[in-house]
Amino acid sequence: MTEKVRWGILGTGGIARAFATGLRDTPGAVLAAVGSRTKESALAFAREFDIPASYGSYSELAQAQEVDIIYIGTPHTMHAENAIQALRGGKAVLCEKPFAMNRREAGEVVALARARNLFLMEAMWTRFMPALAEVKRIMASGEIGAVTQVHADFGFSATTDPAHRINNPELGGGALLDLGIYPLSIACALLGKVDTVQAQAIMGETGVDLSTAFTMKHVGGTLSVCSCSMRARSSSELVVSGTKGSVRMHRMFHLATEVTVDLLDGSSRTVATPYLGNGYTHEAIEAGRCLKEGLIEHPLMTHDDTLSLMGLLDTIRRQIGLRYPSDA
Ligand SMILES: NC(=O)c1ccc[n+]([C@@H]2O[C@H](COP(=O)([O-])OP(=O)(O)OC[C@H]3O[C@@H](n4cnc5c(N)ncnc54)[C@H](OP(=O)(O)O)[C@@H]3O)[C@@H](O)[C@H]2O)c1
Repeated sequence: MTEKVRWGILGTGGIARAFATGLRDTPGAVLAAVGSRTKESALAFAREFDIPASYGSYSELAQAQEVDIIYIGTPHTMHAENAIQALRGGKAVLCEKPFAMNRREAGEVVALARARNLFLMEAMWTRFMPALAEVKRIMASGEIGAVTQVHADFGFSATTDPAHRINNPELGGGALLDLGIYPLSIACALLGKVDTVQAQAIMGETGVDLSTAFTMKHVGGTLSVCSCSMRARSSSELVVSGTKGSVRMHRMFHLATEVTVDLLDGSSRTVATPYLGNGYTHEAIEAGRCLKEGLIEHPLMTHDDTLSLMGLLDTIRRQIGLRYPSDA
């Protein structure tokens, strides 16, 4: 591969635009091509982001010679199919969250990437935020004592339009897969493997979850308390607590630009942490670094991490009675 990392964007919706914007601030990244279900949309996107090649199908993008890695920004239900097509075209893949609709689909994608020795990563951008690295550093330093708990939530008031992908079961709608993956993923990144999970949910008229809460007991003997909602503009913070105090990533925790430490003695300090571009830049830099180093997974977001998160989502879905056509 060349010195530059040549990106292809698959899909031209909201997150595809945000990621393309983030690539503008990513050193060494070149936006080489875009693929859409329609030629018109691909062309309009290419014009807006100054992309030399545009394709009116995802399969053409998967085969494009000028692309090293494909970023997938389609609805959840398409992720596995799109990733498999890109990998079969010999491309590395960065795939939006949730990585797939269930553990079975995720396993098929991971197996293909491993068999073809191609880089593959879930686009869980929070894992690469400097704010999270600072939280980990503070935990490891012992400043907040022995860590015992994580509280994490993510909620906002989403559209109630039943056709919108967030409410539509045919497109993998619901709070858990769209938002709950953030507290789930960050709790696991901080406290490690999960022993047991218990969930409850409020279901909506379209059959997807509006709000879901779950607690997890981690293998190391710690606890996380997580929630998500598309009907509550919640504080959306992350708090890690220990025997001597706590460290907090402020609202919205996945966009954090500072962390605050509060200690037993009443003292408090806030540390500013870097935030490049629109935030997506950090994961793009890390994916590019893995490509240049010939890695097929990132140590901070491994294939096994993704498979385990998908397994936990499956378990939570069973407990709250959330089924999708793709489960059949
Ligand atoms: N990381 C983050 O911060 C973040 C934020 C928002 C969303 N996401 C994730 O990104 C994914 C897309 O979300 P979004 O909000 O960008 O969605 P969106 O605005 O609806 O865009 C999705 C795009 O996917 C393509 N697509 C393919 N099949 C489709 C179908 N059956 N219906 C609609 N669109 C289809 C379309 O592009 P073409 O017409 O060009 O093919 C469409 O523009 C979701 O999985 C979501 O979880 C991540």
